[in-house]
Amino acid sequence: MAKLSLSFVFSLFLCFLSSSSSSSEGFESYIVHVQRSHKPSLFSSHKHWHNSLLRSLPSSPKPATLLYSYSRAVHGFSAQLSPIQTAVLLRNPAVISVIPDQAREIHTTHTPAFLGFSDNSGLWSNSDYGEDVIVGVLDTGIWPEHPSFSDSGLGPIPSTWKGECEIGPDFPAESCNRKLIGARAFYRGYLTSKKNASSTHTAKESRSPRDTEGHGTHTASTAAGSVVANASLFHYAQGIARGMASKARIAAYKICWTGGCYDSDIMAAMDQAIADGVHVISLSVGSSGFASEYHMDSIAIGAFGATRHGIVVSCSAGNSGPGSETATNIAPWILTVGASTVDREFSANAITGDGKVFTGTSLYAGEPLPNSQISLVYSGDCGSRLCYSGKLNSSLVEGKIVLCDRGGNARVEKGSAVKLAGGAGMILANTAESGEELTADSHLVPATMVGAKAGDQIRDYIKSSESPTATISFLGTLIGPSPPSPRVAAFSSRGPNHVTPIILKPDVIAPGVNILAGWTGMVGPTDLDIDPRRVQFNIISGTSMSCPHVSGLAALLRKAHLDWSPAAIKSALVTTAYDIENSGEPIEDLATGKSSNSFIHGAGHVDPNKALNPGLVYDIDVKEYVAFLCAVGYSFPGILVFLQDPSLYDACETSKLRTAGDLNYPSFSVIFGSTVDVVKYKRVVKNVGSNVDAVYQVGVKSPVNVEIDVSPSKLEFSKEKSELEYEVTFKSVVLGGGVGSVPGQEFGSIQWTDGEHVVKSPVAVQWRQSSVQSF
Ligand SMILES: *[C@@H]1O[C@H](CO)[C@@H](O)[C@H](O)[C@H]1NC(C)=O
Ligand SMILES: *[C@@H]1O[C@H](CO)[C@@H](O)[C@H](O)[C@H]1NC(C)=O
Ligand SMILES: *[C@@H]1O[C@H](CO)[C@@H](O)[C@H](O)[C@H]1NC(C)=O
Repeated sequence: MAKLSLSFVFSLFLCFLSSSSSSSEGFESYIVHVQRSHKPSLFSSHKHWHNSLLRSLPSSPKPATLLYSYSRAVHGFSAQLSPIQTAVLLRNPAVISVIPDQAREIHTTHTPAFLGFSDNSGLWSNSDYGEDVIVGVLDTGIWPEHPSFSDSGLGPIPSTWKGECEIGPDFPAESCNRKLIGARAFYRGYLTSKKNASSTHTAKESRSPRDTEGHGTHTASTAAGSVVANASLFHYAQGIARGMASKARIAAYKICWTGGCYDSDIMAAMDQAIADGVHVISLSVGSSGFASEYHMDSIAIGAFGATRHGIVVSCSAGNSGPGSETATNIAPWILTVGASTVDREFSANAITGDGKVFTGTSLYAGEPLPNSQISLVYSGDCGSRLCYSGKLNSSLVEGKIVLCDRGGNARVEKGSAVKLAGGAGMILANTAESGEELTADSHLVPATMVGAKAGDQIRDYIKSSESPTATISFLGTLIGPSPPSPRVAAFSSRGPNHVTPIILKPDVIAPGVNILAGWTGMVGPTDLDIDPRRVQFNIISGTSMSCPHVSGLAALLRKAHLDWSPAAIKSALVTTAYDIENSGEPIEDLATGKSSNSFIHGAGHVDPNKALNPGLVYDIDVKEYVAFLCAVGYSFPGILVFLQDPSLYDACETSKLRTAGDLNYPSFSVIFGSTVDVVKYKRVVKNVGSNVDAVYQVGVKSPVNVEIDVSPSKLEFSKEKSELEYEVTFKSVVLGGGVGSVPGQEFGSIQWTDGEHVVKSPVAVQWRQSSVQSF
């Protein structure tokens, strides 16, 4: 067993060594996974053992240093090691794998109403607003003085809580209260990294849980912020701000710094959050490239450990859309959330000299433009199509409105570049890549953002007119059915699942465009150095914003159903999600203007009140995840990092999983290949409705080129039989398929109804050249 694992890991490591051989003498940080059963009994603790492992390594040119010892999320430690020390460590039979530390990046008043919450019925009243559920938010820290973290009306800190409020010069003991019950900071991995911003580390960012960036305060207040009356950003989005689970408790774990969010720090925070007793982990952080295989992905590994402890891990899918397979945080035990719009607009029209009006969006709050028309120029004719700071030619831009193209730098930075060059205003236009997706920003110059079609028309107008002009008119906050919502943001990362295509990802979408929530007092709403404004609330966009919405919902569901596992909570959210926008049409993809599909929106948009009472759930035991990993072809060494609990050792042998497709997932992803035209999946559903004798009938919507047969087609539950099994046969009726809107992909659904509940699972089908998994 150990031998096998060694050779496997060693080859991985050699690949890594050769790719980084340039830093010959350099110490690098690694996460080292060890088999806890190898700990000699003479060591009183794992940490002692880990330290001793490091002391046994060659000590020149300098001794290896321990960053963190992990014992819950995973077993192992992180350390700064030289290449020689790493090589020696790998020869130790206790060592499973050595993975280089990596940096990840950070990827919300009206959303409760949009989600259908009400005080008198549904999920809020059936969960007491999540009281006593503890949400661990792993992010940029927290601004503790924010009114969203007021503890008024909350009872004592739950007795199960074992965490701490780590105090510091700018984080006094009073920072925590009965709402913010814990706060910690993790930076050892960051400090040892090449991006260690040591010079600014104390000035600009605080080595405490204090949020000097804004992101963490925003996500924490979205998930579990208290009720704040009359919240707004410069009067935009004015109303009552509240988190999804407004009585849940928050524990802030600061893991993101100006140089990024390091795996070693994330792992330490997960390890600690498990020990502290959180119930939900909200992580709006991920890699920016394609997802790595699960056994090499620290977030997937840590999330597995947390799931094993009964914690729901809710993560953002990433902002790398609209490309295919861009979703990250896609392990089957993670709740993966994409981003969509709500029925609220911050409208600002661009009006060109030829009398055309283009609907745009903006959070500009300063002096408005004069009503008269102003000269209009295209950035591409003024030195910088993307409007980079310092690249616009002032003599061409001064006093004019500049049309800038989206892409490259931050949107607010483009506005700042126009301002610095003396421009009077900006029209920010999408290119084909972001289509018609509009995200509002609090620009420093009068500015609005328009879609790709409007952008093309305005560019044409500038080209064809002798003296093009424009103005911008700001209309404030508009709530209503036009444009329809929800729609999927172009930036929202998409499936198919890059690692295990047989698992449909993302799972669901939730509000992630133009979301109002709490902000840090340290930087302005644009996060730009030249922005002197300070705001209590800010409006920003990203899957980072949609993730904490779902983390809050998970907290509410956990409170409403104390006996539900993380998988059951996910199942409830997935099978009750909807895929029709408020116009009655299928949810649109803002990247293309066409109907979205399950590789883009998963099961669809979350519906909290329905998730409260889903009827049936697809539950998954942790052992089944292990069996899944075996079934998709992970060899034993690859799996070892997940297997720290000895009770999981035999999961692969004892599992009922015939194939990976049998994992009891609440959605279906089917892959046909050149030699595979029939696929069978088994599922088990558990009756969680109030009627123990419920009888469910199946309803199938088959993709055009697939026949779906469900057997049995009727499930009769009883007191003795609360769990029933069924089998689905998917048959491709054309080889190659591919008449859907995306070549090689088609979509359908399987739903069970008992007259009261609709338990709907999306079906996504792909025809691939080879049906062989990538392992
Ligand atoms: C990182 O920053 C800390 C604190 O300023 C400093 O002590 C440390 O030596 C730095 N490490 C590296 C590798 O630059
Ligand atoms: C609500 O907030 C706005 C903007 O901050 C402020 O101008 C207004 O006076 C406030 N209204 C109330 C009733 O507090
Ligand atoms: C800026 O534009 C003016 C007017 O066309 C031109 O004379 C000047 O050379 C440009 N400056 C740069 C740096 O390109």
